[in-house]
Amino acid sequence: MILQKIITVAITALFALLTLINAPVLAEAETSLDLGAKVFKANCAGCHVKGGNIVRRGKNLKLKALHKYKVDNVDAIASLVTNGKGIMSAYGDKLTSEEIAEVSAYVLERAESGWKK
Ligand code: HEC
Repeated sequence: MILQKIITVAITALFALLTLINAPVLAEAETSLDLGAKVFKANCAGCHVKGGNIVRRGKNLKLKALHKYKVDNVDAIASLVTNGKGIMSAYGDKLTSEEIAEVSAYVLERAESGWKK
């Protein structure tokens, strides 16, 4: 039947179109640093805005301080964030291990680029 053929072609075309529309959306899927940035904004920026520390000024997230206090790698940062330290509370129960890993990588990356912009 001709009508059936038309419908089949129409549906095929529709699927092809949907795939085309979807492609750029998938390509823009969140990158890791986006997740890290999001977690940082929501949980850390309150005290560590622009890599500072509003509670204990010297214990900031700038590379010099991270070196000095030996939290200058992703594992050390993740461990501090998971367990907390001093006034800073632990995030082990609040964030997933993925979120902690991403926010730690984000902190290190920003520290290495001097917390610019
Ligand atoms: C309530 C304020 C507060 C929040 C919120 C907070 N921190 Fe902290 N952070 C501190 C304080 C205070 C210290 C210093 C701890 C100490 O050594 O006594 C610190 C220390 C650190 C350090 C070590 C810095 C250094 O120079 O020794 C890192 C890394 C860090 N925080 C990351 C984070 C991350 C990532 C988050 C979010 C998941 C976060 N902090 C949330 C207050 C906060």
